[in-house]
Amino acid sequence: MSLQSQNYQAIFERSPDGILLVDAEGVIREANSMAQQLFGYQRDELEGMSVDRLVPPHVRPDHGSHRDRYSRAAAVRPMGIGMELRAVRNGGIEFPVEISLAPIDGPDGNTWTVATVRDVSLQKRLRDFGAGALRASEEERARIARDLHDDTAQRLATVLVRLRLLENEIEADEAMARIDEIRTALQDTVEGIRRIARGLRPPELEDAGLESALRSHTRMLREGRGVDVLLDVHAVDEYLTQDGRLILYRIVQEALNNVVRHAGVPQARVTIRHEDGRITGIVEDQGTGFFPQHLALEGRGLGLLGMQERAVMLGGSVAVESLPGQGTRVRLDIPVEIEREVGSV
Ligand SMILES: Nc1ncnc2c1ncn2[C@@H]1O[C@H](COP(=O)(O)OP(=O)(O)OP(=O)(O)O)[C@@H](O)[C@H]1O
Ligand SMILES: [Mg+2]
Repeated sequence: MSLQSQNYQAIFERSPDGILLVDAEGVIREANSMAQQLFGYQRDELEGMSVDRLVPPHVRPDHGSHRDRYSRAAAVRPMGIGMELRAVRNGGIEFPVEISLAPIDGPDGNTWTVATVRDVSLQKRLRDFGAGALRASEEERARIARDLHDDTAQRLATVLVRLRLLENEIEADEAMARIDEIRTALQDTVEGIRRIARGLRPPELEDAGLESALRSHTRMLREGRGVDVLLDVHAVDEYLTQDGRLILYRIVQEALNNVVRHAGVPQARVTIRHEDGRITGIVEDQGTGFFPQHLALEGRGLGLLGMQERAVMLGGSVAVESLPGQGTRVRLDIPVEIEREVGSV
């Protein structure tokens, strides 16, 4: 069984990479829909345009001669090996790309070029962001949590005791009422600090496991932020190291933060499963949604990047599925079959 030619057309159109068909003069003759999205032009604008307009201005003068050289010794090859290639979007914004070139016989008898363009903004930002930064921030959180709990909360507790003693020595009703107010304020403060410390380093994670830690976090979201999270979590602790559990917890926490801050709906759902040697997780909402593809171009969003980077630390990945008006689904996939040393955080 072989594909019909309309299937080839569909493959071209639906390719997740931008594809440009460029003639011997450097004119774009066909562009698929991802190319239109990546470069921010309509099809009829791209088709007929010189491909030189899609490269940064400083390489434009040489681009023509590169093209000539390529068409003389045309072969399938990646472009600019070892170089950080950049392309230019409509409006002048540059973004990092990987490009592969393949020669093809053009209908005019000349050799044309198929250029496949992949946007690697996300990969580049992940590299720049680096696992080191995450590890450092995790250590810092642990230190702050410890200080808040052991030092600040303890000191405040001592102040509470001294207030109690003072109360026994004072008679006047008015003074008593003031002391009472101060005590209530202090108690709230201690409570607040404990909550912050828990958020920084959830104690349940070590004692009772991932599900309990998530339960306690979602209780806080319900009470504090009015967002109800339906938790459907398999027992996966045994497949993860302590660090692995913390990483998974952080990814879900970050995804839920986004629901609270951006989705505009009071419900979300978290599903975590262990199946066929993988842990899969889904954090989803039916809220406002967005175009994930646009984020990389606009350079926004450390939260999603952090999630991705954390998943990579476990040898896995995070994918975001979202569309305006259609909610958001963050999918997490972590292989756990092989006993592995997990990068410590
Ligand atoms: N569940 C969601 N619903 C709607 N929009 C979302 C959702 N999750 C993410 N977004 C969109 O994606 C953007 C990027 O999210 P990301 O978590 O990376 O950054 P952020 O939340 O804006 O900032 P932070 O770095 O503090 O997390 C958000 O600004 C928001 O526009
Ligand atoms: Mg966020």
